[in-house]
Amino acid sequence: MTDYFPGFGNHVSTEAVAGALPIGRNSPQKPAFGLYAEQLSGTAFTAPRHENRRSWLYRLRPSAEHPPFTRYDGASRFAAGTVDTPLPPNRLRWNPIEAPAPGTDLIDGMTTMLANRDPADLEGVAVHVYAANADMDMRVFFDSDGELLFIPQSGRLTLLTEFGRIDIAPGQIALVPRGVRFRAILPDGEARGYVAENHGALFRLPDLGPIGANGLANPRDFETPAAWFEDRDNSFEVVQKHLGNLWTTRIDHSPLDVVAWHGTLAPWRYDLARFNTMNTVSFDHPDPSIFTVLTSPSDVPGRANADFVIFPPRWMVAEDTFRPPWFHRNIMSEAMGLIHGAYDAKADGFAPGGLSLHNLMAGHGPDVTSWRAATDADLKPHKIDGTMAFMVETCWPYRPTCHALDRAQPDYDEAWSGFPKAQLPR
Ligand SMILES: [Fe+2]
Repeated sequence: MTDYFPGFGNHVSTEAVAGALPIGRNSPQKPAFGLYAEQLSGTAFTAPRHENRRSWLYRLRPSAEHPPFTRYDGASRFAAGTVDTPLPPNRLRWNPIEAPAPGTDLIDGMTTMLANRDPADLEGVAVHVYAANADMDMRVFFDSDGELLFIPQSGRLTLLTEFGRIDIAPGQIALVPRGVRFRAILPDGEARGYVAENHGALFRLPDLGPIGANGLANPRDFETPAAWFEDRDNSFEVVQKHLGNLWTTRIDHSPLDVVAWHGTLAPWRYDLARFNTMNTVSFDHPDPSIFTVLTSPSDVPGRANADFVIFPPRWMVAEDTFRPPWFHRNIMSEAMGLIHGAYDAKADGFAPGGLSLHNLMAGHGPDVTSWRAATDADLKPHKIDGTMAFMVETCWPYRPTCHALDRAQPDYDEAWSGFPKAQLPR
């Protein structure tokens, strides 16, 4: 049996029970076995064909069958509001969040760190971190506000979704589309990581321009799960994030009851080790957009609502070049996380599981130690290995949550103190 189908945005047809998937139509008068046909739209009905993403689900009960949602009072740091007073233009950095209390599942273990735009704008991105030590057993979650890009940092995740089962470990990522119900199992008993919540246009692979037809993240390396379902007639809690708040209701069965589905909107996973990294073979450090895995475009050509960018192991061979990321000020706003290893522009203070924010026009770049080491380095070919950092870059300046702002490292600016003054000829 196929566990995963290769390809990005392909039209997949899959059934967990033979004969469950209708042939030649989406909504027959009587679907097989009394299943209910339901369309899930990830783009407007009338989106251009090459951007149109939707799937048809065939399930034991319609997802419309539920009582009203009421406010969910758990997960006090998930979807918490951002700072609404004047935001200092300071660079910010955070240590990994503290260990969660026993019995904390993925939903209650989410801490929202950064966000921009109102989810109702259908633009913007939020960055959350999670730390959990309990499975989601009798409850599921879905996000009406956006698609969720999971970036594990420690501990594996099993995402049981309406479309199928996805297993990921640190170094892999997974995407759950907007609205898709899922629950998370922790095979290692605990897990930490990051989530980028994209309110805007669906993440897609970037255009490659002169790179050609191959390279960066190749479509065949994305994997979409085959249909899988659970038939459980027990009380399940359904939690959703909707317009920036959490809501809950209860139903008498698992909503992960999709027996067959077909379409172009589905979860997927991707192994970052398969990223075909490009870089200079002559001089100068290219713009970090060369490391873009996924992009969510805005309405302005070339200006991303959100880019997911990685800094993977790679050879550094540039001649007469300051090889680490250079000093710069950016109209785009940059949130960075570290999955493992060390980032080549920061000697210390940026731990795996930590986070940093360099917002609109904030001057940043290597710290003094990294600058000195790179300036004095013997420029032989050198492999940066054993590291994986990432960035969620956006055209909308981030606002930290109140919780995040209170916990930022107090001395981050010190990273850029102590640079010697340049000496002009006399
Ligand atoms: Fe930067």
